[in-house]
Amino acid sequence: MAREFRLRPSPNADVFSNESGYSLDRRRFMRYSFNSAAGLITMASLGSIGFASLLMGTRDSEGGSNAISYWVPKGQEDSVWYGSKHLEAMKKSEFEGEAAKSATNMSGAQGVWGGMPVTVVYVPHEENKNSATSTGAPRFQFMDGVDQTGAIIGYGGEIEEEEKWSVLKIHDNIVILMSRCPHLCCIPGWQLVANDFTADNWLPGGLDSGGNKLFCICHSSRFDPTVIEKNTNINRTNGAAFQYFGIKRTGGPTPVGIPLIPFVVNNDVMEAIDFEAEGVVEILDWYTYCS
Ligand code: FES
Repeated sequence: MAREFRLRPSPNADVFSNESGYSLDRRRFMRYSFNSAAGLITMASLGSIGFASLLMGTRDSEGGSNAISYWVPKGQEDSVWYGSKHLEAMKKSEFEGEAAKSATNMSGAQGVWGGMPVTVVYVPHEENKNSATSTGAPRFQFMDGVDQTGAIIGYGGEIEEEEKWSVLKIHDNIVILMSRCPHLCCIPGWQLVANDFTADNWLPGGLDSGGNKLFCICHSSRFDPTVIEKNTNINRTNGAAFQYFGIKRTGGPTPVGIPLIPFVVNNDVMEAIDFEAEGVVEILDWYTYCS
């Protein structure tokens, strides 16, 4: 469901701080989104979403199911398509059904994995991958990531080419994203901007009127969930730089895009992957830009 928003300017805020002495274990990883000062800012900015109950933690932070659940923003039970599914496990077939009703055959939802907010985006890639890009039909594309200095960091297609990153291969027409904005850590959630006045280039081939950019309501950052790139970001706590794979920034004050979360579809249920078991524990670093 696309919504229109009034764009707002970015505040003059120092995005990255350089505190030291932080380490990230699994429990902390699951919960940090809600325990940091930035997380509190986020929750304040998203009072309508009402994540507060998740401060208590979930079964996942205790090592239980890896299922990803819907999170229904408070007060939006009647306006989002998954309004009756709060905390139910997400099913791929439900995204397919919703996508079939939309003009672009895309769908998405706000979710939660453990204490971590996620955004799930369904893109009709398999259906559109062989159509001309000039049609503007959404499909996943791999591109070079460019950092804030203009330097090319790497190619998003490495997730398809390198065995190490095979857990991130695009599959099932879905990407799952960390739902924290790299600007000031608001939770963008599943919100699309469907107006023309941001004038971002939207890939493939369209302008904003394609209406499929993820939108952070806090200060109008925009992201294209169909473009996968390799880029770099900074651990907000210790200042360490890291590289990640994620979706592309298309506009607004966010310095870069948002990292992917590896997942599987198990009997229609979407489940996040245990990074440690898969031997890609460094993926944990990708989510530290708000810690
Ligand atoms: S937190 Fe500022 S645009 Fe998202």
